[in-house]
Amino acid sequence: MTDLSPDALSDKILADLRRRPSHFFDLAQQAKKHRCGKADILFAIDLLRRVGYDIAADDRGRAAFVDAPDLLLAAEITHRLKTAFIGHTVYAYKTVQSTNALAAQLADAGAPDGSIVVAESQTRGRGRLGRRWYSPEEKGIYLSIILYPKIEPVKAPGLSVASAVSLADAFTGYGLKNVRIKWPNDCLIKDRKAAGILTELSAEAGKVRYVIVGIGLNINHTKTDFPPDISAMATSLRIATRRKIHRVDFLQRFLRIFEKDYRRFLKSGLKGLRRKMLAYSALIGREISLDMRGRVITGTAVDIDLNGNLVVETSQGRQILNAGEVTVVKKR
Ligand code: BTN
Repeated sequence: MTDLSPDALSDKILADLRRRPSHFFDLAQQAKKHRCGKADILFAIDLLRRVGYDIAADDRGRAAFVDAPDLLLAAEITHRLKTAFIGHTVYAYKTVQSTNALAAQLADAGAPDGSIVVAESQTRGRGRLGRRWYSPEEKGIYLSIILYPKIEPVKAPGLSVASAVSLADAFTGYGLKNVRIKWPNDCLIKDRKAAGILTELSAEAGKVRYVIVGIGLNINHTKTDFPPDISAMATSLRIATRRKIHRVDFLQRFLRIFEKDYRRFLKSGLKGLRRKMLAYSALIGREISLDMRGRVITGTAVDIDLNGNLVVETSQGRQILNAGEVTVVKKR
C-alpha cells in the first residue's frame, strides 16, 4: 500500500495526467503504479477537482487532464517554471495575515534561498510607512521572496530598486508603454500604482542574515474592486491591458526576470541595472517634494545612486536621500 498522503498522491496523479493532456488514463493502472487502491485514486482525483482542476471522466471510468485553475498553488507555480532557483520552493496559502511576516518566520527556520511565499489574500498586508496593502482574494498576487544575499546591509535598499526594474519589465512585457518606477518602490502604469515593494531585512553584526522582498501586485482588479480611498491612485494590469490576466503565467514570467536581475545585482550591484532604472524613473528631471517623516525637502530629482538612494538638487545643494514619500510638484 502507498505511504503517500492524499495530497502527495494527488500531486503525483496530476503530474501523470498532465504529461498527456486530454488522454484518458486507466485508474486501475494508476492504482498499480502508485501501489494503492482504486478508491485512493478516485479520492485524489476528487481532491484535485475540488481545488479547481478540470479532470474529465469517460464512460469506462478513465480520467484525463483538461485544464488547471489560475490559482497560486505550489503545483501550478512550479509547473514548467523556468528559473534556476527562485520559486523552486513555494509556500502557498489561501489567506495569511502578511506573506512578509510569514516569510521572515520561514527564513528564521531555514527556508531555502529563493523560496517564495504567496497568498490569495492577506488580512494584514503590510505596506511602506506603516500602511496596509489592500489584498482582495484571487485578484492580485501577494508575494514574498526569501533571499540570503552576501551583501552589506547598506546595499539592501538597492534590492528594492532592482525588484522595481524587474516588475517594470514584467509589466512592459504585456505590451504597455507607460510603465514607470516611482522611487523607491512603486510601479506605476499611466501614473497610477499597479504594484508596491516592501523589502525587509534581518541583519546581525553588520551582515545581512536574510532579505524578504515583498511585492503586492494589482493584477485582475477592476475599477470597482478598489476601495474609494485608493481608487483614484490605483490601477491593475487588467485595467491597463483591458484583458483578464493569467496570474500564474505573470508570476512565472516575473520570477524569471527577477532571478536574472537579482543575479546581476549580486554581481555588480545596481550598476548593471542603472540604465533601465533611470529610463523607467518617473522622477528624474522632475521637481519633487520629499516628505521624510515630517521633514520636507524640495528640489529636482537628478539621479538614483548605486545604493538605490535618490539624489536631489536643492537650493542648499545636492542631497542624497534614502527614504520618504515623494510627490511630483510640477507635472510635465
Ligand atoms: C507599498 O507600500 O507600496 C509596499 C506594499 C507591499 C505589499 C506586499 S503584498 C506581499 C507582501 N506582504 C506584505 O505584507 N507586504 C508585501
